[in-house]
Amino acid sequence: MSTHAADVRPLMSRKSGRLQGAVVVPGDKSISHRALILGALAEGRTRITGLLEAEDILCTARALEALGAGVERDADGAWTVTGRGLGGLAAPAGDLDFGNSGTGARLMMGVVAGHPLAARFTGDASLQKRPMGRVLAPLQSMGLAIEEEGRNTLPLTLVGTGDLVPISYRLPVPSAQVKSAVLLAGLFASGETSVIESEKSRDHTEKMLRYFGAEISVEPFEGGLRIALEGRRTLQGQPVAVPGDPSSAAFLVAAALITPASDILVKNVLVNPTRTGFYETLAEMGADISFENEREVSGEPVADIRARTSELRGVTVPAARAPSMIDEYPMLAALATLAEGETLMEGLAELRVKESDRLAAMVDGLVACGAIAHARGDTLTVLGLPKVRGGATIKTHMDHRIAMSFLVLGLATEEPVTVDDASMIATSFPEFRTLMQQVGATLDEPGQASNEARGKDHE
Ligand code: S3P
Repeated sequence: MSTHAADVRPLMSRKSGRLQGAVVVPGDKSISHRALILGALAEGRTRITGLLEAEDILCTARALEALGAGVERDADGAWTVTGRGLGGLAAPAGDLDFGNSGTGARLMMGVVAGHPLAARFTGDASLQKRPMGRVLAPLQSMGLAIEEEGRNTLPLTLVGTGDLVPISYRLPVPSAQVKSAVLLAGLFASGETSVIESEKSRDHTEKMLRYFGAEISVEPFEGGLRIALEGRRTLQGQPVAVPGDPSSAAFLVAAALITPASDILVKNVLVNPTRTGFYETLAEMGADISFENEREVSGEPVADIRARTSELRGVTVPAARAPSMIDEYPMLAALATLAEGETLMEGLAELRVKESDRLAAMVDGLVACGAIAHARGDTLTVLGLPKVRGGATIKTHMDHRIAMSFLVLGLATEEPVTVDDASMIATSFPEFRTLMQQVGATLDEPGQASNEARGKDHE
């Protein structure tokens, strides 16, 4: 199970057309983290099919193994987690390294909080800059201790306890990671732990907890939601089938929209409404997209998403939609450069604390490509142009989604777009380049011969 972050590797995309084919994107990142974690806390075995085999997830798998859970990849590609039961994890011998993954680090803080052990959490240069106080504050009020008092960034040594106290917590930021960390810690506290969110964020933790046998309720509360969990209830390992990640599918869909004569079907994608804000926005922009073959898999709605070349028009994306498309703003901002008129994206403060400051990274990169974009406060404005020049090398700041968004944009710009480092794409979507080439996109290492001829083999 050992993998290593690849070396810094630039990648270039150039004008492409007639992207076609049916593809399957890898498993959803959020659900993959949760399936591993709940499997480790449950009694018995959890067999996971379709797990995302990307760096972020492998970091969580390694952390759980270091804490004593059994995590194995079977010969057929499924994963089996052998749970240790609630409170059954043990002190790790070394650091828990979460690489680039905020989700892995933050959710696992909730898990470690409920065990009487010390664990040092660390991560890469991007993760070490990200705020952890938002998770540590509620966990500290439940009983978690931090050796480096007053510090809010990794590396940190966290000391859990077998005696957590339940809390009622109102989320100060709309964050599924914070909500999930508190609920996971609530599993170990005696009594009811509740989280109140004013805007509904992704609900995979709640759904999967219920599926594993937790006592959990979700009720409307003061215009938002109150999620209440009864602590110290045994979880039972379950089979989990992970659907495709809508945040990865977004790049293929976007590529189809902005390249000529394209028609792409992305099969088996999670379409949980807490994750589909991007697709809702595209429909408002006039995109030719549809959800086909809608069905339910492991309690989650799934569909095949078809996207065809479209004339897009600018729209205003309201702040209330941000939680349901938080990871898709970089791609949307790039698409908006080619839409007719202005696109306003409101309520984007959280983008500043993602794998990079995504507001700044997008504005800088788009402007370098000759597009018109600016951020004021937490609103991003992009003015569409008939043609975007491209011809720039984009600083990706260790951010996979910045890299992929600009590589997609480069398929429709006049001159190629280069990203300074594509290696981080492996954190969430290692198959990105192969799948894009499979549908006919031209992606090359700078200086390499065009793969145009190769890319057409798929049809
Ligand atoms: C995630 C929640 C989101 C999202 C991240 C995955 C999750 O973060 O950006 O990629 O799996 O809970 P926040 O909850 O911090 O907004």
